[in-house]
Amino acid sequence: MFKIGILVSGGGSNLQAIIDRIEDGTLKDCQIVSVVSSNPEAYALERASKHGIPGLCIPRKGYADSKAYGEALAAHFDALQVDLIVLAGFLTILDAAFVEKYKGRMINVHPSLIPSFCGPGFYGLRPHIAALEYGVKVTGATVHYVDPEVDAGPIIAQKAVYVQEGDTPEVLQRRVMEEAEWKILPEAIGKISQAHIGG
Ligand code: GRF
Repeated sequence: MFKIGILVSGGGSNLQAIIDRIEDGTLKDCQIVSVVSSNPEAYALERASKHGIPGLCIPRKGYADSKAYGEALAAHFDALQVDLIVLAGFLTILDAAFVEKYKGRMINVHPSLIPSFCGPGFYGLRPHIAALEYGVKVTGATVHYVDPEVDAGPIIAQKAVYVQEGDTPEVLQRRVMEEAEWKILPEAIGKISQAHIGG
């Protein structure tokens, strides 16, 4: 089994997309061994528990600095011997040592076509607000390996989504999730896990 640890902070719809693809057999040989939230209120934790997946909250404010926080996360994931960490709407910036430790074994999903509308501050609705303000006709989502720089790192998958007349940031966010994020994130995990298992 390819063991996956998932970091979340909010609704967890990307987590749900991964759970659904495992349960319907599309994502083979994969197991989510832990869902860790930085936020005790995250609905993502409820999604995990509904599917019998161990979930816990490790809040950033419980630690003196981001180095100590990264060490706590690493201790947790190392104990479970995870093969891959997935950032699925995780809002806390991770310490460079943690990122370095999991280099090539940690991926993120971002709701724009990187290098547009990404980097520090581009979370939640902001990439979509910026895309509408700029007036782009095409946006989308990106899955990439995590590097110490925010939203940088080698790109694994991207999918384009058309902006439509009259879109609000909320409407565009929903379309980007449905048409892009919820598809390319499980697909990327499938590719990585099959390469890992096969090689
Ligand atoms: C998604 O748009 C994701 O790309 C971004 O944060 C959002 C998380 O949504 N990194 P959810 O918690 O998966 O519903």
